[in-house]
Amino acid sequence: MSVKLTYYGHACFAIEGGGAVLIIDPFLSGNPMAAVQAADVNPDYILISHGHGDHLGDAIPIAKRTGATIISNFEIATYCQQQGVESVHPLHIGGGFNFPFGRVQLTIAHHGSALPDGSYGGNPAGFLLTIEGQTIYHACDTGLFYDMKLIGEKGVAVAILPIGDNFTMGPDDALRAVQLIEPQVVIPIHYDTFDVIRQDPQTFAQRVEQKTSAQCIILKPGESYELPASS
Ligand code: NI
Ligand code: MN
Repeated sequence: MSVKLTYYGHACFAIEGGGAVLIIDPFLSGNPMAAVQAADVNPDYILISHGHGDHLGDAIPIAKRTGATIISNFEIATYCQQQGVESVHPLHIGGGFNFPFGRVQLTIAHHGSALPDGSYGGNPAGFLLTIEGQTIYHACDTGLFYDMKLIGEKGVAVAILPIGDNFTMGPDDALRAVQLIEPQVVIPIHYDTFDVIRQDPQTFAQRVEQKTSAQCIILKPGESYELPASS
C-alpha cells in the first residue's frame, strides 16, 4: 500500500492511505486555485489547522454531507460541533492519537486562529502524520521556528511548507525550515492564491536542491505525489 497526496491548491491536500481518505484545510469554495469542488470530495476525516477562512474553508458543509470526522484543536472541534457536525475528534498541541488509518499529532505553528465569525479558534497548529509507516509534516500557516528541528528528528519523508510570505514563511525562511527538518521531499504550498503571496516555486525548488539533500516537488493543483509504504 502506498500513500497518495493530492494537492487541491493553497494549503489543501487529500491524503489516501491506511484505508482512509483525509482532507486537510479544505478551502475550495472561493479559492481561485481550487482543483476540485467541495461537493465532489468524500473524505473520511477532515483535518483543520486553524480557524482562518482559507483553511476552515468548506470543512463544515463537507462534514455534514459526508459524515466525515473533523480532527482539529479543541476550540475548532467544539465550534464545528456547535455548527451541527456530528463527529469530531479534538486534539491539542503536542498531543497525538492513533486513528485507524494512522497517527495524527498537532505541532506548534506561529500564526493566528480566529474563526470567520470572530469566535476564538484556539492556537493554530501543524500536523505530523504517520500513515503506512511514512511521516508527513504539514506545517500549515506558520513562521519559521527552530523547533522544526525537533520535528525533523523523527525522520520526515515529506514536508509540506508554506512559501508565500506575507502571512507565513516566505521562500528564504522555508529554505531554512528545510535545513532544520531535513525531509526527503519538500512540497511548497500557500503561494499564488492571492496577489500578495505570489512566488516562484521553481526558484525555490532550485535553491532547496542546491542547498539541501531534499528533493523539491512542485505540485500544480490537481496533481498527486505518491509515497511507497514503509515499515
Ligand atoms: Ni491563516
Ligand atoms: Mn492561510
